[in-house]
Amino acid sequence: MQHQELVEKIDRLKKERNAVILAHNYQRDEVQAIADFTGDSLGLSITAAKTDADVIVFCGVHFMAETASILSPQKKVLMPDIDAGCPMANMITADELRTLKKEHPGALVLAYVNTSAEVKAETDICCTSSNALKVVESLPKDAEIIFVPDKYLGNFISTKTGRPFIMWNGYCPTHVKIRAEDIERRKADHPDAVVVAHPECTPTVLALADAVLSTEGICRYAKNSPAREIIVCTEVGVLYRLRNENPGKTFYPATEQATCPNMKKTTLEKVLWSLDRMQHEVKVPDDIREKALGAVNRMVDIT
Ligand code: 13P
Ligand code: SF4
Repeated sequence: MQHQELVEKIDRLKKERNAVILAHNYQRDEVQAIADFTGDSLGLSITAAKTDADVIVFCGVHFMAETASILSPQKKVLMPDIDAGCPMANMITADELRTLKKEHPGALVLAYVNTSAEVKAETDICCTSSNALKVVESLPKDAEIIFVPDKYLGNFISTKTGRPFIMWNGYCPTHVKIRAEDIERRKADHPDAVVVAHPECTPTVLALADAVLSTEGICRYAKNSPAREIIVCTEVGVLYRLRNENPGKTFYPATEQATCPNMKKTTLEKVLWSLDRMQHEVKVPDDIREKALGAVNRMVDIT
């Protein structure tokens, strides 16, 4: 099918189903282009909670669709490719978190939103990369804090706030591909460029960054900064928006290797199929949803 025909069919079905298409900033360019809303994990959660559509087609990874289902149980949440998971989220299970909690009775659990609904059900409060500082500052000063699953985001927030965390040993396999040498090489070629990085990057990469931000924060920074050249240390999908929204500026990926294969699983063909068959539905079971909702709502309320 031709691209234009595909886009028109998606548009027609979307109206028929009263559906909204949400896409994460790491999605393929053509998927971002047809989305009604593109954003970071926090923006997507807030939009999923607010929309009055009957159907949400979630172009992202599994935990994001689950979060939409937690916040909007009355809506049908669809994923065009049900196998699009987040390897970092899969690095901790609910059983493992329960064991950790037993080892630290009384500690509060702060979970990055990149976790399964079952893990969220064992959590006191969630955070995303854009609100993690605010969330930590909202916690009682003397509380012991367990942070799961991303040790790099955890380390960044813990250093910024001066709060020690009991840390899980998870990480993002895509962001760890970005190395300090990649940035140094780019800097040598473009000495006037500023460096922005996602907090899932390693501390050696973050030490070279002028700003450490969520994907949406990176988009905002690019618009507002006087810099004409920006080296981007995160998944390469974000370059689509950066280039579209800032035609007068030049963006360099720290490395083209930083591609999340799961984020790229969603294609336009799968979006059309998903709307046509109303599949694959992601529905968090009520008992898990009720427990997880508190942790997600506490986060949304703070922001
Ligand atoms: P953001 O919330 O910054 O978009 O990040 C989500 C993610 O999965 C980063 O790898
Ligand atoms: Fe998960 Fe990393 Fe992919 Fe984000 S980029 S979805 S954290 S694997």
